[in-house]
Amino acid sequence: MQVSRVVADSVRMALLKIAHMGHPALRGRAAEIEDPSAPEIRRLAQDMLETMRDAPGVGLAAPQVYAPFRLIVVRAPAGRSGGREEPETVLINPELTPLDAADAWGWEGCLSVPGLRGLVPRYGRVGLRALGLDGRLVEREATGFFARVLQHETDHLDGALYVERMPDLKLLAFEGEARHIEEALRAAASAETSE
Ligand code: NI
Repeated sequence: MQVSRVVADSVRMALLKIAHMGHPALRGRAAEIEDPSAPEIRRLAQDMLETMRDAPGVGLAAPQVYAPFRLIVVRAPAGRSGGREEPETVLINPELTPLDAADAWGWEGCLSVPGLRGLVPRYGRVGLRALGLDGRLVEREATGFFARVLQHETDHLDGALYVERMPDLKLLAFEGEARHIEEALRAAASAETSE
């Protein structure tokens, strides 16, 4: 690849700074986006995608990069929690409707809460309504891991972090220690089934 091409690519790409828990950017309700096709919105979405890839993460919400707007970028890798692959998607003004009980437990982490993992109950199935960058309406259902990612990211738009969705903070751990919680839960579950 030519040097000039490499320089041009790196100039176009912008990695955004991520706000950490405690910063007011992560609190409050983010504003609706009136014109999804505005060039500034497209630029923000592209930079958020680059930042998510670089982290790497499976989702990022605009307030996490100090932009107080209702915009999220999400993806779900193939095979994660048995779910199917979801390609990178930009969602504007997303709205979720629960379609079952909030009893699907799974591990979550957050780029704004680095180093930690927690077990969080979420809806296993949600209805999604949002706009794409082209202004077209996106309407679909999501299940499993992708439904979890959507709930985590839309929470950011209302100023909530996953730790606030945890009914039991004993299920919060540093990444390197989360396996101890998994082992304890497995042992408890097998004790239950053998009773
Ligand atoms: Ni997060």
